[in-house]
Amino acid sequence: MLSIPMNRCFIVIIALCALGYFQLNAQSDPTVLVDVDHRQSVSLNGDWHTIIDPYSVGLYTFHRENRKDGYFLNQAQLPGGNKLAEYDFSKSPTLRVPGDWNSQRPSLYYYEGLVWYQRNFDYTLREHHRAFFHIGAANYNAILWINGSKVCEHEGGFTPFDCEVTKLLHPGNNFVVIAVDNTRQAYGVPTLSTDWFNYGGLTRDVSLVDVPDKYIDDYDLHLNHARSAVEGWVHVQDAASGANVSVTIPELKLEADAVVDSQGRAAIKLDAAGMQLWSPEQPKLYQVVLQSGDDVLRDEMGFRTVEVSGTKILLNGKPVFLRGISIHAEAPYRGGRVNNDEDVAALLGWAHELGCNYVRLAHYPHDQRMTRATDRMGIMVWSEIPVYWAEHFGDPSVLKKAEQQLNEEIRRDRNKASILLWSIANETPNTPERTEFLKTLAGDVRTLDSTRLVTAALLVRSEGHIKYVDDSLGEALDVIGANEYIGWYEQNPEGADTTEWKIAYDKPLIISEFGGGAKAGLHGPATERWTEEYQENIFQHQLPMLNRIPQLRGMSPWILMDFRSPRRQLAGIQDGFNRKGLISDQGEKKKAFFFLQKAYKEGGFGKAE
Ligand code: GCU
Repeated sequence: MLSIPMNRCFIVIIALCALGYFQLNAQSDPTVLVDVDHRQSVSLNGDWHTIIDPYSVGLYTFHRENRKDGYFLNQAQLPGGNKLAEYDFSKSPTLRVPGDWNSQRPSLYYYEGLVWYQRNFDYTLREHHRAFFHIGAANYNAILWINGSKVCEHEGGFTPFDCEVTKLLHPGNNFVVIAVDNTRQAYGVPTLSTDWFNYGGLTRDVSLVDVPDKYIDDYDLHLNHARSAVEGWVHVQDAASGANVSVTIPELKLEADAVVDSQGRAAIKLDAAGMQLWSPEQPKLYQVVLQSGDDVLRDEMGFRTVEVSGTKILLNGKPVFLRGISIHAEAPYRGGRVNNDEDVAALLGWAHELGCNYVRLAHYPHDQRMTRATDRMGIMVWSEIPVYWAEHFGDPSVLKKAEQQLNEEIRRDRNKASILLWSIANETPNTPERTEFLKTLAGDVRTLDSTRLVTAALLVRSEGHIKYVDDSLGEALDVIGANEYIGWYEQNPEGADTTEWKIAYDKPLIISEFGGGAKAGLHGPATERWTEEYQENIFQHQLPMLNRIPQLRGMSPWILMDFRSPRRQLAGIQDGFNRKGLISDQGEKKKAFFFLQKAYKEGGFGKAE
């Protein structure tokens, strides 16, 4: 038998690794590192080389088998090299990250398929530290490789994921390859048909996050029901039972020390005496310092309670009315997905200007910048996962995907005071399968977070001039959301004057959508569709009607700003946009904006009890 001296074997293995023949198996399931935006990290935002791969050539052979020598190896045609490589990232055009590809390159406007992203980066791991690859969001399916080795896969376009890459990093130069595919999936969440633009790509921040060997990966700190103490827990990954944890609120000179149990979890309790509670009027945030061993996390948190009492929503024990607006995560002016502070400031600035104390972030979890900003600005939030319209509710794999997204959403944002409501669905058909599916999700919410309210946007049943909110799912909700389009999809605006509402549940009601389309700058009689006057007229009749519903506790008209949707193709008016915004995508405020602003600012609209 051939005897090769040991050191030669070693060199051969390294060489073969470098040539990608062997892949170190360092695959891990994605996780979500809580408060990751406050962690030490190296941003990998910027220009990434990309290859557009509609036939998934970089992944599969011509017989559709998984390639071993796919684009993830980041090889290139070496001059004189006999190995054929029909791609070369270093010579390929770039796309900006974070960013969807559709709004960056006209040729990719309607592109749905696979795009490869590649970049090099320098990184040297610190001793006794680990590294995670953080992706704020990638729509829709993503596969990550580091230095040619596969790390993890993720499905779902609007929630973050973190994959451990410690074992794969070399001191100095490394490379990452990410395959992102936004092909709509019938058994996906969302499913094939939506009324928003299917932006693809690495749509939110990407970074390398440094953590000590034992690190705080999750925690839940909230004001208890009696508002007498901050209670919750801190989880330290890979900590030995008995490891110390401390949570301090320096401004209040409060500290709690605890030890983790065999699951790595430590129960925390801090006296809340003297604490300023978070509210829209006073969105007080405290710096909270969490420590365990070498790991120190600093978060900005507000503390408040939210609950229902009969048909009232109580914030810190007081009835509240949610004066809101619905918002899509689409950037004003330039279009594309929201991915920076300016986009967030523009959208929430307009909501504030409108007189809102509340926003519905539709129909999927928005960028974390949004919920950090609502915390700071004192804007209450409805957050939602994209279980939208006709999902395959009978399919267990679809439920699993929805539960995964729910878990990622709640894990990322459970410590955000501004979020009051977790919405589990929008406009789903009232079938037994659907109700079963969503009742399971409602239960999951309560298991993951018992401190907030569960809701969903329900469809409304009509008989003559009576509107019935009696969808069977209502039983499982704390707050009933209902969408109606009197004056647009049905009747004319005046129809609201004679509409009667019958709500089957003694629960708070939020009208989560109403409105109509208008082309900014198009003026005419209030009876003429698409004019600003027609849209304003809808609001003029809606508000008095809604004010007559005794248990109405909030509303979020559809929608703050015109947004792109492939469903909207009326030439000269829609041109690929849903025009129900109170503001155009170019920032032009329509008449209905000022009408609603007046109603919200003058008060007299909406009863908290
Ligand atoms: C629906 C749906 C929205 C949609 C809106 C519309 O209610 O929830 O996503 O954009 O109606 O038709 O404009």
